[in-house]
Amino acid sequence: MAAALLSSLLIFSFLSLGAPLSSNYYQKTCPNAESIIRKAVTDATKNDKTAPAGLLRMHFHDCFVRGCDGSVLLKSKGKNTAEKDGPPNVSLHAFYVIDNAKKALESACPGVVSCADILALAARDAVVLSGGPSWDVPKGRKDGRTSKASESTQLPAPTFNIAQLQQSFSQRGLSLEDLAALSGAHTLGFVHCASFNNRIHNFNSTTGIDPSLQPSFAANLRRVCPANNNAKNAGVPMDPSSTTFDNTYYKLILQQKVVFSSDNALLSSPKTRSLVSKFASSKDAFSKAFVKSMIKMSSINGGQEIRKDCRVVN
Ligand code: HEM
Ligand SMILES: *[C@@H]1O[C@H](CO)[C@@H](O)[C@H](O)[C@H]1NC(C)=O
Ligand SMILES: *[C@@H]1O[C@H](CO)[C@@H](O)[C@H](O)[C@H]1NC(C)=O
Repeated sequence: MAAALLSSLLIFSFLSLGAPLSSNYYQKTCPNAESIIRKAVTDATKNDKTAPAGLLRMHFHDCFVRGCDGSVLLKSKGKNTAEKDGPPNVSLHAFYVIDNAKKALESACPGVVSCADILALAARDAVVLSGGPSWDVPKGRKDGRTSKASESTQLPAPTFNIAQLQQSFSQRGLSLEDLAALSGAHTLGFVHCASFNNRIHNFNSTTGIDPSLQPSFAANLRRVCPANNNAKNAGVPMDPSSTTFDNTYYKLILQQKVVFSSDNALLSSPKTRSLVSKFASSKDAFSKAFVKSMIKMSSINGGQEIRKDCRVVN
């Protein structure tokens, strides 16, 4: 009896952690929340064309570690090294945009809007400002109190093959369709040499360069990133239109001109390969699938509180 009661309490508290998100969550408590966040993203992007890519990637990192709970925003403190200072952190940036939005929100409606929601909305605004689709973002996320560098290794690596990618996504309730659509975020941004050096130097004991790279594309990557001689900031844009959210990424996959093994891996399962072809021939089909999968990814549950400062727990 007591055990049954206890277990039903446990189930109840588990379910309440996962309180459903809703579109009108801040309608009464902070009606201008969305326009305040949009202004922070728009203002930043005027001076910093790299901000949208930074925000979109940051939201992905947030959701893949402990759910979308703003854990990626927390800074290291004392002996604890935070997620953002963990190994896959190269190029995580644009944190200041979230700070600016939070500052404005705290003066309009103090203690109401979570940092996790700010990041989810900023990622949507980043896509829209880059010429991509818009969508209604469900809100009501809570911020978490834990962020550990060791957990950032739970993120998928650019060296992953299709089986590893599928496993990483399915552990978060995301399908191969979600993988194919969300990878299209790699239409935006910049990549450092360290993220693809494995494909252009000492690929394996028989071949120096990954044979699945188109040869002139590989030659250019080697020009930018010579062996043992990478300037810290050296790298290449994700695609030639790397500030425009479009379906070029999928056309480049078909030409084997994408930087990561994980991008190229979308060709190695029939399901993802057929989606790559579909998205390459229709920006509209890509946009629809991307929106659906973003809403799914950004609904992965997380935290407990509404942080006052996005970089530190209350
Ligand atoms: C499928 C597994 C994925 C892997 C292995 C992966 C890996 C990476 C890596 C290694 C970088 C480059 C870091 C650097 O060299 O600076 C990167 C950049 C980026 N990723 Fe992914 N990613 C994945 C999925 C996603 C998803 C789902 C999104 C968002 C929905 C995303 C958005 C981005 C963006 C926008 C950038 C550019 C960031 C910038 O320019 O600052 N990625 N990704
Ligand atoms: C990334 O993490 C390393 C530790 O793994 C840290 O030394 C470095 O400062 C971090 N870089 C950024 C940009 O936060
Ligand atoms: C090196 O990679 C190529 C292309 O993927 C492959 O055909 C070959 O078997 C690999 N060699 C070794 C030793 O793994």
